Amino acid sequence: MQDRFIGAVSLIPESLATPLIPLLGEHFSGHLSNDQLSMLATESAMDKQQLLLALLPIAAALASPPISHFYVGAIAIGASGDAYMGANMELPGEALGQAVHAEQNAISHAWLKGERGIQDIVVNASPCGHCRQFINELVKGSEICIHLPGQPTAPLAHYLPYAFGPKDLNISAPLLAPQQVELALETDDPLLIEALDQANQSYAPYTGNHAAVALETDDGRVFVGRYAENAAFNPSMLPLQMALGELLRHNLGFEAIERVVLLESSAGQISLANASLAALSAVADVQLEHVIAEPC
Ligand code: THU
Ligand code: ZN
Repeated sequence: MQDRFIGAVSLIPESLATPLIPLLGEHFSGHLSNDQLSMLATESAMDKQQLLLALLPIAAALASPPISHFYVGAIAIGASGDAYMGANMELPGEALGQAVHAEQNAISHAWLKGERGIQDIVVNASPCGHCRQFINELVKGSEICIHLPGQPTAPLAHYLPYAFGPKDLNISAPLLAPQQVELALETDDPLLIEALDQANQSYAPYTGNHAAVALETDDGRVFVGRYAENAAFNPSMLPLQMALGELLRHNLGFEAIERVVLLESSAGQISLANASLAALSAVADVQLEHVIAEPC
């Protein structure tokens, strides 16, 4: 088991901790398959909801909150039934608006793994207004079930009545729906090829600035993030933050970063370069490679 889970496991009933510990080995990065969840439910004699609430300390152990020291853990259940953990991430010394909330990290984790819908979100603290707005951007967002310790399960519509969302801006393919983007770039650089592929899956209906980040670590691994816009603009999630969230979930530190590419569409109304530069300079002494790709 990874050291970062030792404290969390001590908060979990033994009937669950015993079958869970073997899953928390070196390669664990916050993903549990539907089959693994079923096995854990059977072994611990918990129902799925009890199980997910009991797993929250593991999700919270993924947090990196050097400013608040407040550990938030969230679990998103994808349409496939798999569970995707996420936790809050604060960037040391940077503007608070550059932080990522646990719910956003869990949802982006599911999106990067190919999920096309979210059924449930389980979280250890009440989702803030910004997260409720972020969840409302997703496919069938108002129907997503929110599970909180000590509260009855309720759909997002209960937590965000009379909501503002993508429909108000005439967007009919919300976040997690397949996007029809075709950016092209002539390159044989594998990091740029990866960034291009991710940008083609990004969600930028409000600015057209389809964008992604691909970063490489000193052991040659690649982590990616896609841009995810929000109808209310400010809760949008930047691709660099999404990639940094992936890095931390994989139990690596920011010091492992060696190369970072931000790829953006030439057709966008905005650029994420300045905001990304600010975020990157907070965590690594690495140049931001900025590449523009043309729509086909
Ligand atoms: N936080 C979340 O991750 N989710 C919420 O909805 C509430 C707040 C995080 C953000 C910040 O890292 C810390 O908790 C304090 O607000
Ligand atoms: Zn929040």
